[in-house]
Amino acid sequence: MKSCEQPTRTRYGISILAIVVFSSMFVVAGASQGHLRESRLTVNNSGVIDEEFNNSQMRIVQEEELKRKKGEDDEEVIWLSILGRVYDVSAGREYYGPGAGYCGLAARDASVNFATGNFAEEVKDLPSETLNAEQLADIDEWRDFYLKEEKYPFVGFLEGTYYDEIGNPTEELKQIDIILDEYKKVVSVKKLARKKEREERLKKKKTTK
Ligand code: HEM
Repeated sequence: MKSCEQPTRTRYGISILAIVVFSSMFVVAGASQGHLRESRLTVNNSGVIDEEFNNSQMRIVQEEELKRKKGEDDEEVIWLSILGRVYDVSAGREYYGPGAGYCGLAARDASVNFATGNFAEEVKDLPSETLNAEQLADIDEWRDFYLKEEKYPFVGFLEGTYYDEIGNPTEELKQIDIILDEYKKVVSVKKLARKKEREERLKKKKTTK
């Protein structure tokens, strides 16, 4: 049985491995069938499940169960959790499987690891208290990646930091989404200002010709 022995890696350390990983990404096996697709569940960006959500399909995952999903035998599935949303990433065994580059993200809620690039250990600190808005936005991008990636079926909500025992978002998740909303607003205002500046410069150039 192999285990996840990957040491701490920096953003730069990842790159060599990642290039190798990239070249092998075309041999990804098909995703297992019969799971929920989260996109059908109409979970909005704040993790709020709206009324279209079919409660009979809801699955609450316990940490103990998640911990076992490391893919340690070839048949074993691999799960990971991001901001409390659990995905079956078995189709990405070459990334998340035992000894693979991103195995440190498997079988746990890896939200903070996604932001720091340090996959060596599980971090239990609350992201809203320990990370800045930019780091939260990095996690949000990964959350979006798994939400959209068809080969990684949605499994359910992890009971704990981000979702409660009936799958409702916790105060921590709501706080994170408030910070993200603010951050996105600031980013889009800045983008707009830069666009206007560019347009002004172009106008000036034209009129001085
Ligand atoms: C915070 C740092 C990083 C995180 C959290 C991260 C995370 C990930 C994850 C989860 C995957 C698997 C995606 C999948 O399941 O399809 C992946 C793949 C990959 N990563 Fe990283 N990565 C990081 C940094 C880097 C860096 C610095 C590079 C290159 C310079 C890199 C290049 C790649 C490549 C080429 C792939 C495979 C192709 C792809 O799926 O897009 N990563 N990364």
